[in-house]
Amino acid sequence: MVENVMTVPAANTLPSLTGDVVLHTNNLTKQYGKRIAVNNLNLEVYRGEVMGFLGPNGAGKTTTIRMALGLIAPTSGSVAILGQDIASHGSRILPRVGALVETPALYLYMSGRNNLRAVASVLGGVSAARIDTVLDLVGLRARQKDRVRTYSLGMKQRLGVAIALLQDPDLLILDEPANGLDPAGIVEMRDLMHRLTAEGKTVFISSHLLTEVQQICTRVAIINLGKLVKVSTIEDLISGHGEFVVTVERAQEALALVKAQQWGKDARLDTRGALVTSAPGKRGRDLNLFLVNAGFVSETITQSTQDLEQVFLELTNSGTGGVQ
Ligand SMILES: Nc1ncnc2c1ncn2[C@@H]1O[C@H](COP(=O)(O)OP(=O)(O)OP(=O)(O)O)[C@@H](O)[C@H]1O
Ligand SMILES: [Mg+2]
Repeated sequence: MVENVMTVPAANTLPSLTGDVVLHTNNLTKQYGKRIAVNNLNLEVYRGEVMGFLGPNGAGKTTTIRMALGLIAPTSGSVAILGQDIASHGSRILPRVGALVETPALYLYMSGRNNLRAVASVLGGVSAARIDTVLDLVGLRARQKDRVRTYSLGMKQRLGVAIALLQDPDLLILDEPANGLDPAGIVEMRDLMHRLTAEGKTVFISSHLLTEVQQICTRVAIINLGKLVKVSTIEDLISGHGEFVVTVERAQEALALVKAQQWGKDARLDTRGALVTSAPGKRGRDLNLFLVNAGFVSETITQSTQDLEQVFLELTNSGTGGVQ
């Protein structure tokens, strides 16, 4: 759930319950003419997590990321990274952020290693040992001498992440790094993200497909029409709000009975005629007992899980865009 966010105190004074806030947007807003691309966005990303930033095309993800990186100025609101305001302390704090915004700019005719060397020479202060380290991290050591032209899409994306890692940043901001990857590429990306968090990195990763990032992320923030609509763990997103699916004879009768109860007023039948309902005391066994006592012997009772893509569509198609 999203709450009003207070000013971020110095990192070492933050409560351990939520961990350190590494990225914090405060009423962040960007307006282009009459169109509000990002609308009062309040978001916190904690140290060591991989947070997904999800939304359909045009939702405002890239605009948010550009503001977080100081590439464009907000119309109002602010971004703090590691407790420091980007507008006033950007030059100090942004070197601690690695970024990949949309597709990485790579020299296709050069090797992976030479791409890294080219960027390193522009940045300055990056050792050859660091280049070895990032090649290892992204799993491209064995292919470092091959031209990037011969790389798969997933390898190119990982080389982009390697570039973002050159300065050993605390926070990685990746805009659609899984875009177009096949399932194997997504697994490689997930493994890479796990290696990064094991190193103490924090990752903020955008996508327009929930299925793409559900394996990669620990939490997701969903944005639609520039507004935050949900912040949740993947687990909670699919838990189905504590509902149960009951297959039972005379389902219509059972539905009428359940709907008459306070805990069952949202009950309904699904497309296959099964009863979908909350339970008294939120426990499946109590629901079972209730039904049996009323003369309904259920065939099966299972906890409802939601199809992630369906959840995402429901959240982003509603058009209300309000914080829930
Ligand atoms: N420079 C700009 N000038 C005018 N409008 C813009 C500009 N940049 C973005 N927008 C608008 O702001 C909204 C958000 O765009 P943004 O690129 O942030 O979306 P996104 O979530 O990254 O989408 P995608 O998944 O397609 O990458 C869109 O309506 C877009 O048309
Ligand atoms: Mg985008």
